[in-house]
Parts: sequence; C-alpha cells; structure tokens
Amino acid sequence: MNDNGIIEKIIALKEERDAIILAHNYQEGPVQDVADLIGDSLELSRAAATLDGSVIIFCGVDFMAETAAILSPQKKVILPAHDAGCPMAEMVTAEEIRSARARFPDAAVVAYVNTTAEVKAESDICCTSANAVKVVNSLPNDQVLFVPDRNLARYVGRFTTKQVIPWEGYCIVHDLITVEDVTMAKQGHPGAEVLVHPECRPEVIDVADFVYSTSGMIRHVCEGNEPAYIIGTEIGILYRMQKDCPGKSCYPLSGRAVCTNMKKTNLSLLFRSLENLAPQVTVPGPIAKRARNAIERMLAVT
Ligand code: 13P
Ligand code: SF4
Repeated sequence: MNDNGIIEKIIALKEERDAIILAHNYQEGPVQDVADLIGDSLELSRAAATLDGSVIIFCGVDFMAETAAILSPQKKVILPAHDAGCPMAEMVTAEEIRSARARFPDAAVVAYVNTTAEVKAESDICCTSANAVKVVNSLPNDQVLFVPDRNLARYVGRFTTKQVIPWEGYCIVHDLITVEDVTMAKQGHPGAEVLVHPECRPEVIDVADFVYSTSGMIRHVCEGNEPAYIIGTEIGILYRMQKDCPGKSCYPLSGRAVCTNMKKTNLSLLFRSLENLAPQVTVPGPIAKRARNAIERMLAVT
C-alpha cells in the first residue's frame, strides 16, 4: 500500500475506533501529517488529560504514552512502536529515589516527565522542559533533587535561589551537541539565531541565543523577525517548523541529533496499531495513582 492509501485507511479507522492521534514534535513528517495534535511533552500531556475519544494513539516514546495512560485511565492508550523508549528515563529508578530521599531529607524530588511511572510515583512533582523553572520555584523547599537530567537541572539552577541537586542522567542525543557544533553552524549561517533545548550541556546553553522546549522553539521562529535560525534539538522538529513558519530558514545545529526511538513510529505501525488497538500501555493502579498526583501537581502550576 502506498502512503496515500494508508493515510486514507488511517483516517477512516481513526473515526471508527473513536481515536485521537497525538504526535511529538520529533516524529517523522508523514506521522505528524495524520496526527490530530502535534506538540511538546507538556502540550501532549494536557491533551491526553482533556481531549475526547476512547483511544489515544501516542506517536512518541514510552514515558509519554505512560503519562497519557496515567492521566486518562478510562482511555485505551496505544504506543504503535512498542520498543520506542527513552534511554534517559532508564537512568534513575524508584529504588534510587527512595535511598536519595534518606540522603536529602529536606529536598523536594522533582521528576522530569522523561521518567518511568514508578519514578514519578516516588516524586513530589513532575516537570517538562517547558515549565521546569516555574515548577521548581513553586515549591516551598529550599533544596530540590532534580532527576534524571543533569543538564536541565543545571539550567533550572540559573533561575532559582534554591539549591538544585542534579541527578547524573542525560539525553544521549542532546548531550552530544558541542560548542564546536555551534561555532560551525554559525560560520555556515552567519546572522542566524541559535535556539537550543535545555537538555543541552551548560557550555552549549552559554553560547546559544535562546533556550526553549520544542514547541517553544517553533513559536519563537514563527513569531520572530529574523529570517534564519539554527535549531539545537532533535532534527525531526524541522519538519513542523518549516511547515508552520513559512518564509523562515531553519538549519539543524547538528546532523547527529537524531533520536532513533522517536523514528521507530511509521505509518504502517500506526495503521496496524489502530487496527489491533495494540500494543496498549497500562500502568498498575497503585503506581498510577501516586504518579498521577505528581503529574497533576505539575499541571496545576502552569
Ligand atoms: P519537549 O518536552 O521539549 O518536547 O522535549 C521532549 C524530549 O524528549 C526532548 O528530548
Ligand atoms: Fe529521550 Fe533524548 Fe530521545 Fe528526548 S531526544 S526521547 S530525551 S533520548
């Protein structure tokens, strides 16, 4: 079946199944094109909590689908690529949080949404790249243990008087971006603004013009007056950026910034998942309940 044929079938089956398709900004173009909503982690969490429909097809990685399942227990949440994980989310465990709490009894535990449901269940509150500073500053504690992304933790530390203790996790895609990449991209595109994701290393953030979540970058480019932008995040974002922001030139900061897990979803898997309503993502009740508290606290902040 060619792309057009499969797209027609997906659209028809979506109606039949009363499903909504959510896609992260890093998804492949054809997947974005059939989605009902494309966004960053925060926007997709909000959508999962509020949109109608009995089924959510989540085109992204597993922690995003888990978050949707936690927020919408009455809906069936499907992750078309069953093995689309986020390596950073595996860099901290629930057991490690429990022992860290004993070492830092006065600290609030803030879990980046890129964590497992078990880790969220052990945390006081969640955050995403879009609201991390706001979430940390909303807490009464003077000390915050921030898991698992050390780079986002250090970025947040720039905007708070609280002591932010970083966990030693990182994104294998953003952590690879270097200052030399920025220098070379600027040489290739003189005058272009440099936008980076807060999962980048501190020294990369120091030489960037702006730091945003993925949707924050898209808004900045669409609303900006500059003609050219260098984009320091996963390259999948460029598809939506070029489509939504006509007349602007956008260049990847690094061609190596590819999240293979985000590329596992394709139209055939999406179609098959709608047909079979599988693979379904579920979170056991007691864990879901505690994880939901941490996510809902975050949603109440922003
Ligand atoms: P955003 O929430 O900014 O979309 O980031 C998600 C992510 O996984 C970045 O690597
Ligand atoms: Fe995880 Fe990094 Fe991929 Fe985002 S880009 S899903 S943080 S591995």
